[in-house]
Amino acid sequence: MCGIVAYLGDKQAQSILIEGLKRLEYRGYDSAGLAISDGQEIHLTRAAGRITVLEQNIQDKGRLHGTLGIAHTRWATHGKPTTENAHPHFDCTGKIALVHNGIIENFSTLKKWLIEKGATFSSQTDSEVLANLIGHFYNNPSETQAENDNLAGRFEKAVRLALHEVVGTYGITVICQDHPDLMIAARRGSPLVLGLGDNEFVVASDAAAIVQHTTQAIYLGDNEMAVITRQGFRTTTIDNVPVARQTEQIEYSLDAIELDGFEHFMAKEIFEQPQTLASCLSGRIDLTEGQIHLGGIASLSRDLVRAHRIVINACGTAWHAGLVAEYLFEQLAQIPVEVDYASEFRYRNPIIEEGTVQIVISQSGETIDTLAALREAKERGALTLGVVNSVGSTIARETDAGIYLHVGPEIGVASTKAFTGQLAVLTMMALYVARRRHMSQHTLAEYVTALNQIPQQIKSILTQSDMIRDVAHTYSDRENWLFLGRGYQFPVALEGALKLKEISYIHAEGLPAAEMKHGPIALITPQMPVVFCVPKSSQYEKVISNVEEVKARGGKIIAVATEGDKLIHNYADHVFTVPDTHEELQPLLTVVPLQLLAYHAAVARGHDVDKPRNLAKSVTVE
Ligand code: G6P
Repeated sequence: MCGIVAYLGDKQAQSILIEGLKRLEYRGYDSAGLAISDGQEIHLTRAAGRITVLEQNIQDKGRLHGTLGIAHTRWATHGKPTTENAHPHFDCTGKIALVHNGIIENFSTLKKWLIEKGATFSSQTDSEVLANLIGHFYNNPSETQAENDNLAGRFEKAVRLALHEVVGTYGITVICQDHPDLMIAARRGSPLVLGLGDNEFVVASDAAAIVQHTTQAIYLGDNEMAVITRQGFRTTTIDNVPVARQTEQIEYSLDAIELDGFEHFMAKEIFEQPQTLASCLSGRIDLTEGQIHLGGIASLSRDLVRAHRIVINACGTAWHAGLVAEYLFEQLAQIPVEVDYASEFRYRNPIIEEGTVQIVISQSGETIDTLAALREAKERGALTLGVVNSVGSTIARETDAGIYLHVGPEIGVASTKAFTGQLAVLTMMALYVARRRHMSQHTLAEYVTALNQIPQQIKSILTQSDMIRDVAHTYSDRENWLFLGRGYQFPVALEGALKLKEISYIHAEGLPAAEMKHGPIALITPQMPVVFCVPKSSQYEKVISNVEEVKARGGKIIAVATEGDKLIHNYADHVFTVPDTHEELQPLLTVVPLQLLAYHAAVARGHDVDKPRNLAKSVTVE
């Protein structure tokens, strides 16, 4: 959602913070700012717009000196994306500076109270309320029995007391003019990582901003705080109970978050899918034995195998992966599955009976709605499993067990390699359970062989990129598209439509192909591109009938079909091909041309593919 980076060490903070903000820009990019303490005062620079605008401002105003600083890139929730609303925010005495991710739900009550106490405000944000609340407690030690504390202790106490008053979510880093050797970080709901370098500490909302300085990190837990000085740090709960946190190794290298010659992260991530899927499958599919090994869920596999029902919760692209999993688990493992948007699940008094297993799917592992759905199901007694990419993320920590995607960090806001990673993991899970329920060894071995071919098959699909680009260019001026598919291809159609919406801002709808005749067929004109996901499958003939229906009404047909399918050429204006594989594995292949189609259409329309308007990579607010 928004990105935080903060530095305390022996180097100049400014360039480290700017560099960190650039690495986090995919989390939010409507405004940005930084505040640096020179030992006497805290100096602030902020700007509406991208980090480059902030950099320009700094160049114009002159360098900020100091080795302690906090910075933020914003995705607006409370208040417009203006310079005044950009972070960091000060309290009204100008002593306390804060950056904040999350939402303070009771901010208006707190603001009213603070105004009565004499505080003034210069922004419309909830975050400035928190800065003022900390400032109020800091400047009024008699109210908080802190008169006898030293100044640093008083500052720490003020942060704790303020966080106690807050309803909502936060990831914050705060500094105070009186303490140029101290920074405080705390979280509830919004992730924060503390990187431990040589004589330096970097706090960030995401390891991407830390990895160039150190790979040693502490992941703060919910309701925890880190008090960081030049000499060291301490982790406690917000209530000041010490918490021992293990130092962890940040999993990914700097290369993983570089563009590597590509123009956009989305393109890089589409093209690296052969490698990311190979890494996802590695050690899990066993060609010699024809087996699947899933270490992450091995200890709980009996409960999964005996599940009476599986409930899947996720948002966005991850929800589409969940829909594919519904077909997989029902078809292969014969377990009833219910897939629900995470944001809907918890507000409808969901029924979790004995034997229910919940699977939550999330690239970031931080999406607040998915996290809330997980907590709800856990509270009601479900066994919870995570399919998560981001190692050490909140969802990964809070699930009973899980399987990481191992596809590396995904930076492009439009999810691509995480989606295919999710499909691969869910397919392996379904096969793993199926084998333990009724599937023969021989059948499983066939699937394992087919899975092993997927990375290579994706590589061959990617060679069609130029042809797909030409088709995207031909239709990039059309404002309405349909994506249709049946069975396993229905969620793929949804995902294809979502990709186009997200980065091309074209209105696109994904539908089960057969539903078209119950309404949407009325939309079809010669102006309307209709994308059919129609690989050779058990429903192939039925989808061809739907293709004919569109053809008869003059729609422009773009088909994703199996290599060697001659029939489809009789109907389709353009055909993208995928190699043949088992029907259950086809989504792993058919989605790839759709990712490329959306990418090229967005480029043709001149959009900033990695930073689509109004979107954020990880949505940590409700
Ligand atoms: C945001 C992103 C989507 C993503 C969704 C779920 O809306 O823009 O691309 O699919 O969140 O994210 P998650 O990290 O939970 O998979």
